[in-house]
Amino acid sequence: MTQPSQHPSTKAELKYEGKAKRVYATADPEQYLVEYKDEATAFNAQKRGSWAGKGATNNAIAAALYPKLEGAGIPTHFVAKLSDTEQLVKAVTIVPVEVITRNVAAGSFAKKLGLEEGTPLPRPVVEYCYKSDALGDPLINTDTAVALGWASEGDMARIRELTLQVNAFLTPFFLERGIRLIDFKLEFGKLPSGQIVLADEISPDTCRFWDAETNEKMDKDRFRRDLGGVEEAYGEMLRRVLS
Ligand SMILES: Nc1ncnc2c1ncn2[C@@H]1O[C@H](COP(=O)(O)OP(=O)(O)OP(=O)(O)O)[C@@H](O)[C@H]1O
Ligand SMILES: [Mg+2]
Repeated sequence: MTQPSQHPSTKAELKYEGKAKRVYATADPEQYLVEYKDEATAFNAQKRGSWAGKGATNNAIAAALYPKLEGAGIPTHFVAKLSDTEQLVKAVTIVPVEVITRNVAAGSFAKKLGLEEGTPLPRPVVEYCYKSDALGDPLINTDTAVALGWASEGDMARIRELTLQVNAFLTPFFLERGIRLIDFKLEFGKLPSGQIVLADEISPDTCRFWDAETNEKMDKDRFRRDLGGVEEAYGEMLRRVLS
C-alpha cells in the first residue's frame, strides 16, 4: 500500500499563499495541490472578509468548468478534484499577466471610459494587466509583456486565441443557465514543454455574472459593493454550473 507521505497528491511544502488559495508542492514535481480558502478580498486586499463554504464553492465551480473547457479543446492545468476545497493541477510557470475579457462594460472599464455599467460591447475586449499587487495590477499591452520578457510574441498570440475560445465556450454555457457572462479574468501558465495552458481559477471571484432575467449580480461585486446575499449568490452559481 502507498504510504500517505508517498501518495502523489499528498501536500508537501507550501509554495505560495495568496489571497484566495494556497499552492502546495506534491511528491510529483509536475503537479501542485491548490487549496481554496474561505477568505475574500477586494480593492487590492484593502477590503477583507470570509464566509464558511466559499473555498468549497469556488473549488467545485472551477473543478466543474475546467473539464468542460478541456472538452472544448482548451488545454488547462486541471488534473482532478481531491476534496471539498482541494484540487490537483499541473505545475506551471505563471505568465505574470492578468487577461481580462469584457463582453459588457462594467467596473473600472465602465468608469474610466464614461460608459454606463451594463453597456453591451459589440465585440469582446481583451485587456492585459501586469500581475503585481504592489503596483495595483497596471494595464499593459502585448508589447510590454514581450519587451519585459514575461512572454514571447507567440505566447501572447496563443493566450489571446485561447482567451477568445474560453469566452466563446463560456458565454453560451452560462446563458443556457440563465446567466450573462459580463467579464472575467484569466491567468495562463507554461508547462515545461513550453505549452501555454489555462491556469488559476474561474469562479464568482474572477468573473462578473449577472442573472439573465433580472440583471442581479451573482459574483464578487456583491462583496465589493456590500450588496448582501454574497454566500447565496455563490451557491446559486454553483447550482447553475452543475445544472
Ligand atoms: N497551475 C499553477 N501552477 C503554479 N501557480 C499557479 C497555478 N495556478 C495558479 N497559480 C498561482 O497561484 C496563486 C493562487 O493564489 P491566489 O489566487 O490566492 O493569489 P492572489 O492572492 O490572487 O495573488 P496573485 O496576485 O499572486 O494572483 C496565484 O499567484 C496564481 O497565479
Ligand atoms: Mg488570485
